[in-house]
Amino acid sequence: MKSEVKILKLFDAHVHLRHDNSRILQEVVIPTAKVCKYAVIMPNTSPPTISHNDVVWYRDQILFFSKQYPDFNPLMMIKMESNCDPELIRSVKNVGAIGTKSYPEGVTTNSSKGLAEEVINNPPQNLLDCWEEQSKNGMISSWHGEMPKSFVMDGEKDFLPFISWLANQYPKLKIILEHISTADAVDLILNKNPHNNIAATITYHHLILTLDDVLKHNIYPHNYCKPVVKTPRDREFLVKAVLSGHPNFFLGSDSAPHCVKAKENCWGCAGIYSSPVLVQGLAEFFDSHDALDKMENFTSIYGARFYGLPLWEESITLIRKRFSVFAPFNEFGFTPFRVAHDFGWGLKDD
Ligand code: NCD
Ligand code: ZN
Repeated sequence: MKSEVKILKLFDAHVHLRHDNSRILQEVVIPTAKVCKYAVIMPNTSPPTISHNDVVWYRDQILFFSKQYPDFNPLMMIKMESNCDPELIRSVKNVGAIGTKSYPEGVTTNSSKGLAEEVINNPPQNLLDCWEEQSKNGMISSWHGEMPKSFVMDGEKDFLPFISWLANQYPKLKIILEHISTADAVDLILNKNPHNNIAATITYHHLILTLDDVLKHNIYPHNYCKPVVKTPRDREFLVKAVLSGHPNFFLGSDSAPHCVKAKENCWGCAGIYSSPVLVQGLAEFFDSHDALDKMENFTSIYGARFYGLPLWEESITLIRKRFSVFAPFNEFGFTPFRVAHDFGWGLKDD
């Protein structure tokens, strides 16, 4: 039985750090910057990150508040709205943005002015030109994959034909289906990916929760996220995908903090704040499947490879020890995922 595991610092391919209040950013960047070499920063901020000025300003803010962890590199994306054009794509690429994130309209937090179902079904020429430009210049096309008008449990499945269409139209475009939640999405990556240009991120929470953990006995808002966690069978497919060691499945934590007032509310927001427990929880997950040797590929290597980044030296070490977090975690009352759970793994240096 291993008592220690040393892995390269993480490549977290999907993190929400917010920026509407700099005190919030200052708090929530720390757990990510502490354990990550790279994190891909989601642009569904309020207001959204959509221009090259937004990218530069937001990255500067993140670097400022994470300067105690100088190894940490935030990778920036812009939110692709329906009026996006290749000129915008080139201008954000020039300031270092690595891709676009597209949100179907209304499917999740801050996705108003996302892409309407009609736009997804029949994309206008300006978007076709953007994808062509991105294919040529190696930028990522990242997707929140849920159809706006579908029943909530079917939104991801109904989105997959669009992803297949995009991948076939642009065989060189690097496409990421974010935070997959269904057996159907796993099947797409494994069996319907002829150009091998589609990868998927998987969250820690989709590996351990099912819908029972959100609403079986009482409603538990801190396990509510989009796409909603689904059936035991879907979870089993996600777990198998990760344990298979297939390089097109890698970590995107989708750590998404909301103030407690916004979560514990009759119109509660979707989003799970997982970054404070992410590596500890993943070590516990891999250990429980007797697969600690698979952890580093999933958390650090495969994502960097898909993004085309060279590997790094910096590492973290996890050891068997007791570790828990408690709410309220800070003055905003962000309730971390698995609050008060007794994890069997913690960071050696904590
Ligand atoms: C995310 C958020 O809060 O910004 N929420 C979530 O439930 N995952 C947005 C997203 O990635 O869907
Ligand atoms: Zn997200």
